[in-house]
Amino acid sequence: MTAIPPALRLDGAHVTLLLLPRGSSPEIAYWGPRLPDGLDLAVLPSLRSRAVARNALDQDHTDALLLPTLGAGPTRQPAFAAVRDDGRDWTAEFRLEAAEQAGPTLILRLEDPVARLGCVLRLGLHPDDDVLTQDCTIVNRGDTPLRVERLGAGAILWPQGATELLVLDGHWGHEFTERRTALDGGSFAVDTRRGRGSHEHVPALIGGQPGFDEDSGLVHGVQLGWSGNHRIAAERLEDGRALVLAGLLLHPGEQILLPGEALHAPTIYATLSETGLNGLSQRFHRHVRRHVLPFSAAAVPRPVTLNTWEGNYFDHDQGSLKAQADAAASLGIERFVLDDGWMRGRHHERAGLGDWVPDPGKYPDGLGPLAGHVVGLGMQFGLWVEPECVNPDSDLHRAFPDAVLHVEGRPLRTARQQLVVDITRPEVASRIENQIDALLRAHPIGYLKWDMNRDLLAAASRDGRPAYHRHVVALHGMIDRLRAAHPGLEIESCASGGGRPDLGMLRRTHRVWTSDCTDALDRIAIQRGFSRLYPPEVMGAHVSASPNHQTGRVHTLGFRAAVALFGHLGVELDPLRMTDPERAELAAWIALHKRLRPLLHGGLHVAVPKRAGREARGVVAEDRRHAAWCVMQTASADRRIPAPLFLPGLDPQARYRIRAPGPQAVPARTTEPHRQLFRDGLVVPGALLVQAGLVLPEMQAETALVLTLDAED
Ligand code: GLA
Repeated sequence: MTAIPPALRLDGAHVTLLLLPRGSSPEIAYWGPRLPDGLDLAVLPSLRSRAVARNALDQDHTDALLLPTLGAGPTRQPAFAAVRDDGRDWTAEFRLEAAEQAGPTLILRLEDPVARLGCVLRLGLHPDDDVLTQDCTIVNRGDTPLRVERLGAGAILWPQGATELLVLDGHWGHEFTERRTALDGGSFAVDTRRGRGSHEHVPALIGGQPGFDEDSGLVHGVQLGWSGNHRIAAERLEDGRALVLAGLLLHPGEQILLPGEALHAPTIYATLSETGLNGLSQRFHRHVRRHVLPFSAAAVPRPVTLNTWEGNYFDHDQGSLKAQADAAASLGIERFVLDDGWMRGRHHERAGLGDWVPDPGKYPDGLGPLAGHVVGLGMQFGLWVEPECVNPDSDLHRAFPDAVLHVEGRPLRTARQQLVVDITRPEVASRIENQIDALLRAHPIGYLKWDMNRDLLAAASRDGRPAYHRHVVALHGMIDRLRAAHPGLEIESCASGGGRPDLGMLRRTHRVWTSDCTDALDRIAIQRGFSRLYPPEVMGAHVSASPNHQTGRVHTLGFRAAVALFGHLGVELDPLRMTDPERAELAAWIALHKRLRPLLHGGLHVAVPKRAGREARGVVAEDRRHAAWCVMQTASADRRIPAPLFLPGLDPQARYRIRAPGPQAVPARTTEPHRQLFRDGLVVPGALLVQAGLVLPEMQAETALVLTLDAED
């Protein structure tokens, strides 16, 4: 066996992780901006040796463990906790047995001979994106069952200065709402018990120096790749630094490992930026693009989509849907998604869920004629499904009345008139899978909108034990099998909007339905929060009708389109109900999106700090030759003359032609230079745009201005 070196080091291009493999689980000695190459790390143990504090443990110890456990010295929150039936083995003190480093990957093998546990920690630091990934597997090496109560893939160390947290909270229709809170001392935690992910807490935590914003401050971020119950917690250590844990939230008795069995913790993704939130988002986006998503937007451009929900709801008329498809194709739309309402008996939300066969009244010849019509128009056909749920009024429920997650003897509680199917039972999962597979085989369906419209509540399987974790494993398995059987199939992750956007889902899906709220004004805040973590090409953003169905607000088509333009663009309305001029304008916005699409879906996300009444975010190409910005006036201006807008990320040496492209029209009250923006554009040195800024035309409340920038030489 090779000797374990005195220090272990992983480097990205801009970040470094140092571990000290001494004592029990390795100590995190450093996680921060890149350290120089060739450092002599032999001295690190001496540097990290602590003075023995008064009235404390007499042995040298640290709180900053990579895998904190109960009993291993300090009394911090554990990343792993378990117990045997007789109440023993509730402490764990791991010994590092082996450390294998191959390029950017470090595998640590740990053992606890007392509690009879094995552990493998796998760390990866990708030099091309500076994101650290941590995975962990625990094995029961004993001869009795082991009840796991907590498991996360280790800890991430944040510095003393990271005392301000940015949390993404929310609720249905208002996902990804940013909230700032202080972590001066003690701990901060968010627990999610809704079982499908949740609208309330995105599995992520951001923290940094007080006042950090888009372009300043040392900022740290952690994400968890898990689509179910989770716990993310930050705890300040005695020396002022903080440990951040992210892992499974388990119910009592949920995970019992038999002798020899193993449990995996979901992957933790961590990065940091010395230049504020923009740098943090760019690193996360790059990692998601290169190492998480099952596609590359450069190779598979994201098709502009028409989704039928808000234009039709349950009222499916095939003649009208075909005419809507005709109109969609002439607008330049590339994918037509038939939303809820197509299944047998699905005329409202009280019936039909669980039976993945077309309604004979609405579709007497099946889905073939509509799918064929759509494909004949040159568009892709997509279909809405909700495989994890069932209405009590459905053939599936009548065939398997006990195949719903519930505790025997307790009342069955419906939500949105539905129950959660026990897909952990193979015979139930395969019935659903076979029906969906048959549809995919029979029709040219290139895309599934995979929805999940209720929480898991008292969710037990047939054995009476909690099935939250097993449900997620079964869900991921179902998606993986369908994708393996239909390699070109794309999938959208939807859970009543943005309830399930995590990287566990994004590893196997292609898009997130960001929110059921399609109001452009509300969407600005929702998309801001979403963009902190996930790249724009997976952010479903639709132009919907005005007045908006969720809020009743009236917005111009220009505002609705500009706000949606920077995501994965879609349309969520019946195009037949638009006037000819509206359709022409929408077609022009779609054409603009397609022209900008390689930039929007491949560039670096940038934003400027929000100020009262105005927000601006954009995207800059990796080579900085092109950029696009959306300036959004969210309320009436807070100053009589608008403040200059600074456009970070541009090349100060380059000269850019800056334009306000069509279909945007010259505003009524403006000056000649501004008029020029809407005609040939202005040529401006990058340095001036970055540092002196640009004064924009006056903008009314709830309007937006799209700007494009192209380097001239
Ligand atoms: C959820 C989705 C919507 C739509 C409806 C259909 O709410 O988020 O987009 O698909 O279900 O029932």
